Amino acid sequence: MRRALFPGSFDPITYGHLDVIERASKLFDKLIIGVALNEDKHSLFTIPERKKFIELACKEKKIGNIEIINFEGLLVTAVKELKIDAVVRGLRAVSDFEFELQMALMNREIEKACETIFMMPSPDYSFVSSRIIKEVARLGGNISSFVPSIVSKALAEKKQL
Ligand code: PNS
Repeated sequence: MRRALFPGSFDPITYGHLDVIERASKLFDKLIIGVALNEDKHSLFTIPERKKFIELACKEKKIGNIEIINFEGLLVTAVKELKIDAVVRGLRAVSDFEFELQMALMNREIEKACETIFMMPSPDYSFVSSRIIKEVARLGGNISSFVPSIVSKALAEKKQL
């Protein structure tokens, strides 16, 4: 049984993430989506909110072989504890590559068995990131083509607070 871990902040999940989830879920028996708790990074949504958005988005897409967890600390610790065969990360453009390569190599350096595979989401989402979605939503732009409807709603509610 092949198990992959797709880690990220998912603050919030976008259609770019969902595209990678859909593709990776077809390659592995089980895809674990790991929502990272990063105290250094200011997050808009709480971990339970982020997990709920992922859960609903995957349900809507009928992606069944997933599990959503949160993790703290080193990614490689989660990889070991969860008996993960490969870490999955999305590559939108060449600009993502440098940082992703650095992370993948560092992770393999500290945990020899930690392999990372990169997957390219559809070019339709190559310019979509959680950060840019939050900015556009905050400034009143329409982001409904780039995130699941539950996320659009939640972002609109945040704006009213
Ligand atoms: O969605 P993001 O913010 O690009 O995800 C980055 C994430 C969570 C995958 C990365 O920051 C991570 O792995 N954090 C866990 C802490 C860790 O292991 N850091 C060393 C990485 S080399």
